Order: sequence, then C-alpha cells, then structure tokens
Amino acid sequence: MKDASPDNVSGPGWIGIGQGRIICADALEGLNEVADGSVQLIIADPPYFQVLVEHGWDNSWNGPEEYLAWTIEWVRACRRVLRGDGLLYVFGQLGKREHVWLHTCSLLAKEMQFHDMIIWDRAVGYNERSDSFTPQYEMILALRHAANAAPYFDKDAVRLPYEEDRIQSYLRDKRYKDKAARETHLRKGKYATNILRVPSLKGSSKEKIGHPSQKPIGLIHQLVRSSSRPGDTVLDPFLGSGTTAASCESLMRKWIGIESNKAYFEMARRRIEDTLSRPEPALD
Ligand SMILES: C[S@@+](CC[C@H](N)C(=O)[O-])C[C@H]1O[C@@H](n2cnc3c(N)ncnc32)[C@H](O)[C@@H]1O
Repeated sequence: MKDASPDNVSGPGWIGIGQGRIICADALEGLNEVADGSVQLIIADPPYFQVLVEHGWDNSWNGPEEYLAWTIEWVRACRRVLRGDGLLYVFGQLGKREHVWLHTCSLLAKEMQFHDMIIWDRAVGYNERSDSFTPQYEMILALRHAANAAPYFDKDAVRLPYEEDRIQSYLRDKRYKDKAARETHLRKGKYATNILRVPSLKGSSKEKIGHPSQKPIGLIHQLVRSSSRPGDTVLDPFLGSGTTAASCESLMRKWIGIESNKAYFEMARRRIEDTLSRPEPALD
C-alpha cells in the first residue's frame, strides 16, 4: 500500500495508513509532534466530562476545574498546529449533568475567536428526562484563530437538494422568465443551515462498530467537505472509532488521528483498513 500520509508529524509510534497517520497516545503528546500551522481543519470530539459515567476516559478528572484546565491545554496545542485560515470544531453537549459545556464554551471563546455554534440535530431524543423536554441535539463550537482571520469555508460543498415537488412549484413561479436557468440554479440545491440534522447511530446501525460515542460519518462529512479542500490535512485528537479518518479517506483529505485507548486505537485502525479495501459510501 502506498503511504501518502501527512509528512507534518514526526516521532516514533506513528503508523501510516492510506492518506493518514494514527498514533496511540495522549492527545497532548501526539499534538506535540505535529508541525506548527500545518493543519487546515481540526475536528475534536473530546470526553464530555462525566456523561458516559461507566467509561473511565470520561471520568479521569477530579472535578470540572481540572477538566477545564486540561481542555485549555489541548485547545492551545490545537491552535498552534492550525493554519491561519483553519477552523477548530469542538463537540459538546448540554443536559441535566452536562452544564460544564457552558463553561467550556466561555473559556474557549477567550482562547480563540468564536466563529459559530452548530447544532447537531440527532433526529431522535435521548436520555429521557421527566423534568424538562427530551434532549435531541448536541453542539459543535466552531473557533477560528482571531477576529480578523478569514477561515476557508465552501458553502457550495454542502448544499442540500430541494425536494422535487418544491422544484416544480418554484418553476411555476411566473416572475422567472428563464426557466432553464432557474432550474439549473434550483438543481444545485440550497445552502445548509447551521442545524445539521443527521440521525444518531442506533445499536442496529450497520455503521456502528462498537464505540459508545461514535459519530455518524454523514455528519463528519459535512464538516470535512465544507471546511477543507481535497489534499488538505484534517486532524482529530480524540479519534475514537476513526470516523474522521474514514471520512477523510472517502473525501480524499490527508488526516492525523490520535487516540489514547489501545482498544479504540485498534478499532480505528481496522476501520480505516476496511475503508481502504472497500470504500465507505458517503452516507450523507
Ligand atoms: C467522544 S469519543 C470520540 C468518538 C469519535 N468521534 C468517533 O466517532 O468514534 C472520545 C475519545 O477520546 C479518547 N480519549 C480520551 N482521553 C484522551 C486523551 N487524553 N488523549 C487522546 N484520546 C483520548 C477516548 O478513548 C475516546 O475514544
């Protein structure tokens, strides 16, 4: 297999697969080996802090303050490796127990420049609660380097198709004389909003491979398509089951993945090898 993986990482322990490199290490250790300003896009889906209480990796801090101090450390490391026109996406969640995300957002908006808050609409509710509405979304905080930084973002890459009956009804609108031009325009689809509706993975989903917080690849595709070009390098410091890497392989981006848990590291590695032998369909 030809190793075309990024040359912007150095140090022992990195394994090249397809267009990327993966390491089983702590995020901070792995990030230390990535060159300054060498990454176009970072997709970070960190432990949310005591949401998955049964998993050690979500419970390894003595309290919220320690978790927040650690968050600032890895975000600073991400900022160092991010290109001037790059975006850092950070996943987070609010709920009965997950209020730490509010503090995370406010702290990170001081470390970097707030760019957007994207809602991931999971399409079905989860963690039913009797004292409030059923939660149905998670959030993705988008950060850029500075107020005057102009991040790369391609809105055309994430257009959504109009339904056929909607196209036909728009075409009946008498104000538009050039029907062919109007139809060409409509067939390009509409711009996606910052509410991304992608169903979360059910236990029975074919895509699910055994990680408790595996994200749907269709969601990650939208971040990768809009915020990087083919050939750019995308980094995921908490790779989990390898969703970002699998997306990058499908969309022809280079990638760098860091995962500290040996079992998940192996899961991601197998998944990427499978993706290479049988390209994963773009499930979006
Ligand atoms: C929320 S999950 C990521 C799931 C991933 N987005 C996916 O689709 O599979 C967070 C991951 O971070 C890993 N992790 C936790 N602490 C870490 C650390 N300090 N450095 C690197 N990885 C870490 C966990 O083992 C877990 O797999």
